[in-house]
Amino acid sequence: MSPAIAGAHGFRVNNAGHLEIGGVDALALARDFGTPLHVLDEERLRANCREYRDTLAEAYGPNARAIFASKACCTIATCQIAHQEGLGVDVASGGELHTALRAGVPARDLYFHGNNKTLDEVEYGLRTGVGRCVVDNEHEFDLLETVTARLDTTADILLRLTPGIEPHTHQAIRTGGVDSKFGFGMLDGAAYRAVVRASRMPRVRLRGLHAHIGSQVCDLEPFRMSAAALVDFAARIRDELDVTVEELNLGGGLGIRYVPADEPPRIADFVRALAGVVTARLGAHRLSHPRLFLEPGRSIVGSAGVTLYTVGAVKSIPGVRTYVSVDGGMFENPRPALYGAQYEAVAAARAADAATDTVAVAGRCCESGDVLIWEARLPPVRSGDLLAVFGTGAYTYSMASNYNRFPRPAVVLAGHGRGRCVVERETYDDLLRKDVSL
Ligand code: LLP
Repeated sequence: MSPAIAGAHGFRVNNAGHLEIGGVDALALARDFGTPLHVLDEERLRANCREYRDTLAEAYGPNARAIFASKACCTIATCQIAHQEGLGVDVASGGELHTALRAGVPARDLYFHGNNKTLDEVEYGLRTGVGRCVVDNEHEFDLLETVTARLDTTADILLRLTPGIEPHTHQAIRTGGVDSKFGFGMLDGAAYRAVVRASRMPRVRLRGLHAHIGSQVCDLEPFRMSAAALVDFAARIRDELDVTVEELNLGGGLGIRYVPADEPPRIADFVRALAGVVTARLGAHRLSHPRLFLEPGRSIVGSAGVTLYTVGAVKSIPGVRTYVSVDGGMFENPRPALYGAQYEAVAAARAADAATDTVAVAGRCCESGDVLIWEARLPPVRSGDLLAVFGTGAYTYSMASNYNRFPRPAVVLAGHGRGRCVVERETYDDLLRKDVSL
């Protein structure tokens, strides 16, 4: 049943049978802002931030902070909301850094990631005074040496470590295993050597350790293992190198519920589990409590997002499949095509109607693989209907492209009964802004 689908994603169906997002009728949002439309439920987004913030404080104390991994949805507005709710912001490129700074997030609250930062990016980060550079590899040490000398400054760093843990998630979004482009391996000695090097660099202050094992992980065990491995490593470098770890950043990675088969832990349970492991392990090693950071992206913004589409062509192939084509597709949500990601949808104007049909919701890019949902359960739909796809707040807009020269959709924040455009829809002229005619 569709009302169950909307409800399972935390959204209301109003008396007219229409889906509501942030107290706004989805049909009104589509009418006012057009489709395809990325809608974020503001209250949900804020509530997710607060759940991280408050549970961390309760489970670990004031010496802890959540950092919004902006890559999940990097816009000025999302960075502002995260920061207003007390979170720091993780940026993974010069562009994300620029966005967060423009959002007014103080540079000291920014954590600069990336496995291949350029010299210019490192310089941009240090010149603006980012709180932490998360150093990924030896090459980055070389860049830091050059840039800190050039700017006559110092850099506060964390080391990104790869603990050798393979969580159960799509191969493309696992990052903590031995065979990873990210970080200093803990198992092959690279991490230890990085600590030695960092502690000998006069312009670098090694503040702590970081690990991020992967994304859309719904099982707590790999997170616990990674946290424990970091604390054990902190104890080892204290004992052998007399290095104090002031900060532990355990990364992000908590999954969300896209479809009923996903059963992620609640944010609060995830936070408590990690705080618990860290505290116990610190005690066992008689280590004093470092500042604890978590770096969630998807679990902050994913469930707050709904994408609205208008149905165009409907093609039935008897005995095979019905393709319901919508005005979006892999250009604004590449996740199904890239990772086989699954989603659920409802017909927004009949969100309480029983789902009787199984159809493929197809995008409009020139590829057969551009199907957003292969087996969507919907009431009968026809051209002109509005479809709502749930769980699209993370890694959709931020991964959107202009493939086939489709303009990227607008992003609207829905809250307190009104919608506010926070990223405008691109126009055809926007698409040509950087083209140079012969
Ligand atoms: N910290 C670091 C260093 C990361 O690389 C990531 C995500 C995060 C935090 C946030 O992870 P989250 O809490 O969002 O799982 N495009 C893929 C996901 C890529 C994740 C990249 N790194 C997807 O659409 O599933």
